[in-house]
Formats: sequence, C-alpha cells, structure tokens
Amino acid sequence: MWDLVFALSLLALFWLGRGLWWHWYEPYAEARRLNLQLYRVKRQGAYLKLWLRHPEGALLPKARAGQHLLLYGTDLAGKAVSRAYSIASDCSQRRYYQLVVKAEPDGRLSQALFQKAEALDTVLCSYPRGHFSLKPGRAPVVLVAAGVGITPLLAMALQAIRQRRQVTLVYQARNQADLLFYPMLRRLPAFTLVPCLSQPEAGWAGRAGRIDAGLLFKLGGAFAQYYFCCKALMTEKLICDLSILGAHQCFNEPFSAAASIQSFSIEMDGHQADSMGQRSVLDALIAASVPLSYDCKGGSCGLCKVRVVSGEYKQVLDAAVHCGDDEVLACCIQPTSALVLTSLDAEAEVVREPVPPLTKAEPA
Ligand code: FES
Repeated sequence: MWDLVFALSLLALFWLGRGLWWHWYEPYAEARRLNLQLYRVKRQGAYLKLWLRHPEGALLPKARAGQHLLLYGTDLAGKAVSRAYSIASDCSQRRYYQLVVKAEPDGRLSQALFQKAEALDTVLCSYPRGHFSLKPGRAPVVLVAAGVGITPLLAMALQAIRQRRQVTLVYQARNQADLLFYPMLRRLPAFTLVPCLSQPEAGWAGRAGRIDAGLLFKLGGAFAQYYFCCKALMTEKLICDLSILGAHQCFNEPFSAAASIQSFSIEMDGHQADSMGQRSVLDALIAASVPLSYDCKGGSCGLCKVRVVSGEYKQVLDAAVHCGDDEVLACCIQPTSALVLTSLDAEAEVVREPVPPLTKAEPA
C-alpha cells in the first residue's frame, strides 16, 4: 500500500517538475545564446557546410537528433537577421554541431553566410531547439528527405542505427551533385539508402522520378514510423496516401505550410487581411501591407508574436518560442474562422505612451 502511495507521489512530483520546467525555465532557455567558432567551412555547389564548436573546446549543450539552431547574423546590407538550421551531426557527441546552409537566391542570411563565412569566424546561435525527434520504440524507421531536408534526418538516422532499429532513408534530389552526404550515407552500416533523382544524369543506375507512397509503404509497411523533411505539399500528399494504405505513424518537420484554400478575414490593429492563398497569418498580413515585425517565418525568432482577441486558428508550424496565454506566432498559424488580433508592438506602444501630467483643477 505504502509502496503505491510512494510511487504515486513520485509520479506527481515528476509531473509538477515537468510543468514548472515548461512554465519557468523554457522561456529562459529560449533566450540563451551561444558564441561558437566555425572551425571548418566547406562550400559544395549551392550548399555551405559549417562545423561549429566552442572556442575553448568545451562540451556543447546536448542536442536531440532532429533539433535545430537559430543562427543570428546580418544580411549583405548589414541588417540583423536570424534563421533556423537543422543539426546534421551525430547528436551522441557534444564536441561540434554540423549545419548545412542552402544559398537561396533571396535568402538574406544564407547569401551573407555563403559569401562571407570563413573558418575561425565567431557565430552567435541559440541553444538546440525544436520538437522534431525520433519517437521511442522498436518499430522500423523510414526517413523521407528532399534536398537540404536531409540534415535533421541524417542525425535521426545515426540515432536509429545506434538503437539497432531497421532504418531506411529515401532521399529525393534533383541530380547526384545535390545528394548531400552521399559518400558517407553509402558507407553507413545496417542501413538502407534509396536515392531518388528527379533529373538524373546519363548513366545513373538508381531510382529516377519522384517518391510515392507505394514505394514508402513497400519499404516500411503498416507499422513503421515515417519521418518527413520535404516541402509541405509533397509531405501532405505522402502522409495522406500512406494513411490510405494503412500506415499511420507519420511525423514531419514542416518548413512551411501549404497555402490556405479558404478565405477568412484577419483583422489586426484596425488593418484587414485575407487568408486565401496564404501559407500563414503572417503571410496574409504581409500581403496586405499590415505593419508587423518578423524575421525567420519559421517559428524560431519570436518576432511575429501577436495576441488573439477572437476567432479560431490551427497550428501549421511548430513554434520553437514560448508563447503566453492568448499569444501565437503569426507565421505558425492559419485561421479557421474570422480572426481578430492585436500586435504586441501596438500594446507596447500603448504602454510606452507618456502619461499626461496631472493638472490641477481650474478654480471654479
Ligand atoms: S517570423 Fe520568426 S517566429 Fe514568426
């Protein structure tokens, strides 16, 4: 009897501690920054590989496979900017993090890093963050990556191999040059690699074309865990088709949501926007030229935090930033009804507004 009471008390303490952690420590942890050193920089086509370590060789904060770092820097015009990059390195070691940056034509930070990053530079970044990670269990693991989406899945593949699980990586890229980590992936033990090229060069003996759910189901079956890091539309279609085939354990790292096909009005600080064709409330507000601070558009920087006054919405991206009651990140939600918001900037303005001095009542 007392054993049971003791066990239940321990459980209650655990839940209480967990609650306190989320409530008090998580917002603090999000705000912490790391000054790391680039000890290796490698350019490969449109990709930049970065290896980051502590400048004095100290151990780095522990990361979970699938997590990312937020890098803080400046764009080519010198304006502050931050972006999230998944950790590709084996998270069982804490000596370095490896990141891969794709030089997007209009990428503010990626272009600056691609053009300027050199070994021994110092970079400012967040602690590892994000909730995309390998689920426990012994079920086979099927990882589905497209392009630079390989980065979190590589770290997850290494973890799953260590757990002696059956691991398959289906990797979509345009051509062989775009298959990142290809030589290393081919050498991994106890691991099945299925590269799939949409525009293969002559002589490519592997799979050509696009990944489809039939192929994935053949590789994993109904009981496998499927992890996706691809474009939103591709992921949505594959998950939908897999569920029709009978596979229901699907998890994804959303880069961005699919565009909304419903029209809902969004009102913020007296401005109007509409959700039709937009990937998030933030995109709708930007399209309607509503003034709002933002940066990463991916739930990491926290600049687009707003307060919901009324209306319903759905979460389309994971927020890696703590939000208080009634607060949401505009880049992470889509409305499911008419939505009324206030910007925290506007609230701060109200608080900052100087209070008029008290005046003595005029004598009657
Ligand atoms: S723009 Fe960075 S969290 Fe929304």
